[in-house]
Amino acid sequence: MAIIDLAGSDAREDDERAAYLDGIAEGRYDLSWMHDERVAWGSKAALRPGVGLTLKATNQLDHYGKVLDRAPGGSMAPRGAAFETDLPQMLYTYNDKYLVWADNVESLYDEAISRQWDATRDIPWHDLEPLPPDMERAMCQVATFLTEVEFIAADFPAKWLWRMNQHFHEVKLFLATQVVDEARHLEVFRKRALANGGGLGLASRTAERALSMIINADTYLKGSYLMHVLGEGLVLDIFRAGEFLSPTDVEKKIFRLCMQDEARHVSYGTMHLKYFLEHHPDRETALTELHQFADAGEDIIQRAFTSASVIEPFAVIAGEGVEGMETGFETVRLVYSKMIEEYFRRCDRAGFPRRDRSRLSPAAPF
Ligand SMILES: [Fe+2]
Ligand SMILES: [Fe+2]
Repeated sequence: MAIIDLAGSDAREDDERAAYLDGIAEGRYDLSWMHDERVAWGSKAALRPGVGLTLKATNQLDHYGKVLDRAPGGSMAPRGAAFETDLPQMLYTYNDKYLVWADNVESLYDEAISRQWDATRDIPWHDLEPLPPDMERAMCQVATFLTEVEFIAADFPAKWLWRMNQHFHEVKLFLATQVVDEARHLEVFRKRALANGGGLGLASRTAERALSMIINADTYLKGSYLMHVLGEGLVLDIFRAGEFLSPTDVEKKIFRLCMQDEARHVSYGTMHLKYFLEHHPDRETALTELHQFADAGEDIIQRAFTSASVIEPFAVIAGEGVEGMETGFETVRLVYSKMIEEYFRRCDRAGFPRRDRSRLSPAAPF
């Protein structure tokens, strides 16, 4: 393991440094950094009128925007900069582009930065109204489930971020926005549970099992497929349904704002899976292994999304009370079918066809 030993640093380097510092007072400057011929000078990224200076624009500059298939080093030297020799290594293990990349990642980062919102001020909390007790219980249970699941989508990218080479900074920046997005999602659903006379409900074993499979996946790709493509994809459809079914404008706005964030996460994951499969040096083996993982992943995620504490609160909300649950369940079945169909479509788009192999069926098993 490369560890920097400052106590044993080179004596000649120390002497040179002392001589340099002494020289400053006498007007002897170095300025080699100013005249380094390796620096790609004259770069002027184009502004987008009405938008500003995007990350995408900086990547239009050939020297700086060229992302290599394999990172040329393991330091934190910015891509495109000139760098000194013998830079300390950061021990990155994700040094290949196909392990992290998605072709839409720059645009998604630019969008993420421009669409941040605030769970304290952007939700019209003062418009909350007392709901019938069964409706408040149902809404609080939905909020509990979402508070529970949202932060895995922050813990998961955070777990892998430091292993990704700095050469692929766009991916790292995007995942950092995902961490912030998910923090806000946890915050907003927790606040909803505590804002209207209710409270946090029941955390379920089945949900926790699905979350642990995500965080414990042994590669980034497997965890990303399970979380971005499958789990967050299903949550995205829950948000859509939530916006449509919610009893007040407060919940509608919460779901609408979360939905726009979630769509980015799902989009990155789908495009990352596509890039991974298209560029993997042994695509067939990778596909076989991922299909096996997906068999188990779909099963565990389906258990989470069909447990009583997840589907019943939605049936209560859709049926406007426990009395209307039978009708409510009709709506929940429609939402379920759409969730599964959308998942299959994402897999198709990524070049990972699951429709004929999966044990999931768009027909709700309830
Ligand atoms: Fe989220
Ligand atoms: Fe998300």
